[in-house]
Amino acid sequence: MRTEVSNRLRGRRLLVAVSGSIAAVKTPLLVSALVKAGAEVRCLVTASAAKLVSPLALATLSRHRCYQDDDEWDSSRSRPLHIELAEWAELVLVAPLSATSLSRWSQGSGDGLLACVLLACECPVVAAIAMNTAMWNHSAVQRNWQVVQTFPGVIPLVPQPGLLACDRLGDGRMSDPFMIELAASSLFSRGDAEPVSMRDWSGRRLLVTAGPTVEPIDQARLISNQSSGTMGVLLAQAARLRGAEVSLVHGPLQVPEPWLESLSCYPVQSAAEMEVVLEQQQAGVDAIAMAAAVADLRRVASTDASAISKAAKADLAVRLSDGWELVPDLLQGLAARRPAEQLILGFAALTGEDAELLRRGEEKLLRKGCDLMLVNPIDRPGQGFGQGRNGGWLLGKGWSKELPVTGKLQLAHQLLDALLAVKQRSRSSPVPASR
Ligand SMILES: Cc1cc2nc3c(=O)[nH]c(=O)nc-3n(C[C@H](O)[C@H](O)[C@H](O)COP(=O)(O)O)c2cc1C
Repeated sequence: MRTEVSNRLRGRRLLVAVSGSIAAVKTPLLVSALVKAGAEVRCLVTASAAKLVSPLALATLSRHRCYQDDDEWDSSRSRPLHIELAEWAELVLVAPLSATSLSRWSQGSGDGLLACVLLACECPVVAAIAMNTAMWNHSAVQRNWQVVQTFPGVIPLVPQPGLLACDRLGDGRMSDPFMIELAASSLFSRGDAEPVSMRDWSGRRLLVTAGPTVEPIDQARLISNQSSGTMGVLLAQAARLRGAEVSLVHGPLQVPEPWLESLSCYPVQSAAEMEVVLEQQQAGVDAIAMAAAVADLRRVASTDASAISKAAKADLAVRLSDGWELVPDLLQGLAARRPAEQLILGFAALTGEDAELLRRGEEKLLRKGCDLMLVNPIDRPGQGFGQGRNGGWLLGKGWSKELPVTGKLQLAHQLLDALLAVKQRSRSSPVPASR
């Protein structure tokens, strides 16, 4: 089932530009998803793309004619088509971007409708490149790719590893349509009314935890919780799309697999496994966001799991009643070990009245020693575990701010903004105590 983590594509004007890569066969799925999300979509294809994907399919799915190079030269037009499209679009998605179109773009060539639109548009451009691995590794392609990333508003989506249509196993696949849609949503999920270039995490490293941890009771049974991992994964992707290098340590997730693209992922099961990876990864990151819901209890290592397995049902309650210990507080451990300047954002999933949540949140913030704490209620309909929306209060040292319930993608951006603000304030002066 699709989780609605952002409604920010509704009514947005998106231009999907398709160039000549075999990955163009996936573009209709992207167009369909964008239209379902409420966006107004126009498509254009290069001459090569038109041989690989049907312009009629794109026109049908976008509910609008699909433009081709010849349309530029239609004498009934009073304004050049490339200028009209470039000015109309709030976001251009080049999916896929071929080596040839990349080369034209990087060199400022206006050869063809797509090339002219890319030069004329002043809005952000999501560029989902796709090609054979050797082509991708070629120094000329790499150079061109570096050049386009210096253009303002470009969100690069690098080729993904896998089996390519040419039978080669390696980097080259276009980003999954699910991920491209998420990148588009992400651009409109900042507080700003208009999409802005979002590379303000460039050069920073973020470590995120997500999902539940799982503690076995015996070979069949387990202790875990309802966390789907959505909040942590979206936080990781939002930071990655803003230019950060992101590592994600996660328990079993219930999110679309493409949302893990381009993250350094460390899958774990138990809290002990998560702790080991965190210890290995903590050094050298600028910030840590501990969004994982770590299970509270685990079996004492010396207990005999087979005794539980073999117990008759009637004896089960007795067998389960002892041999348990509290899982160590991973967040507290991270805060105790952290190097100077490393920021830590904690999450507190709580139940109860507002005042009680704030009191318990503040107590956790201080006891655990983190810089920021998102207190989010999990006992209110439509928000929290397994939902696309979340909200609550963001607490810092001596201040708190209410974050109204919103899509988790928007919330992820708010949390990244807050981390950057604390970083900047801690450089200039101590955090002001405002309430
Ligand atoms: C079947 C087929 C698949 C292709 N796949 C790719 C590809 O994945 N990436 C790429 O850069 N070029 C690919 N090409 C080559 C481009 O289509 C070719 O370079 C063309 O000039 C691209 O022009 P355009 O960017 O104007 O569409 C492919 C060509 C063919 C015939």
